[in-house]
Amino acid sequence: MAKYIEIDKKRFVKLLAPDTIAAAVRSMANNITRDFSHKSPVMLVVLNGSFIFAADLLRQLDFPLDISFIKIKSYAGTTQQNLVWELEPDMNLQNRTVIIIEDIVDTGNTLMAIHEKVIQMGALSCDVATLFFKPDTYRGRLQILYFGLQIAPAFVIGYGLDVNGKGRNLPALYQLEK
Ligand code: IMP
Repeated sequence: MAKYIEIDKKRFVKLLAPDTIAAAVRSMANNITRDFSHKSPVMLVVLNGSFIFAADLLRQLDFPLDISFIKIKSYAGTTQQNLVWELEPDMNLQNRTVIIIEDIVDTGNTLMAIHEKVIQMGALSCDVATLFFKPDTYRGRLQILYFGLQIAPAFVIGYGLDVNGKGRNLPALYQLEK
């Protein structure tokens, strides 16, 4: 697999191999099974970036659960107020155990907005499972109990994450070269 990828005249260097990502997903599946297998949770998959992670994770969860998709658009350099819902949860979340399935948590703005909405909709609890987590830039109030891999605060693509719609299909994770 290529060590470097060039997209839109930007150079990205390989950061995490597919095997490393797969091991992290397996470990998350084990932890989620341990904590939620008797709670019939609703898995809220955040589009678009989480689609590959969700497909890999959810197929390793062998217990009753519901799946719903949401989409929220954030505008660069803005705060929570500038997030726009494109697809809201289409399920009754009243008294349900909810797990938000995120590809990456950076500042946490998106996550906090989703969490607020889920609680407003009457959920019993709302946890987050994010594959990638940038702890150095995180400013959210919610504790991230389920994450796959911590990464440095640099822009990454691959395994669902994109730059201008490109790079989502890369099986490894690539980091923008400085
Ligand atoms: P936050 O609201 O700052 O936590 O950012 C969350 C969202 O921004 C993610 O769901 C991604 O869509 C996007 N994002 C954050 N960091 C990256 C990155 O390094 N690459 C691609 N998308 C990112």
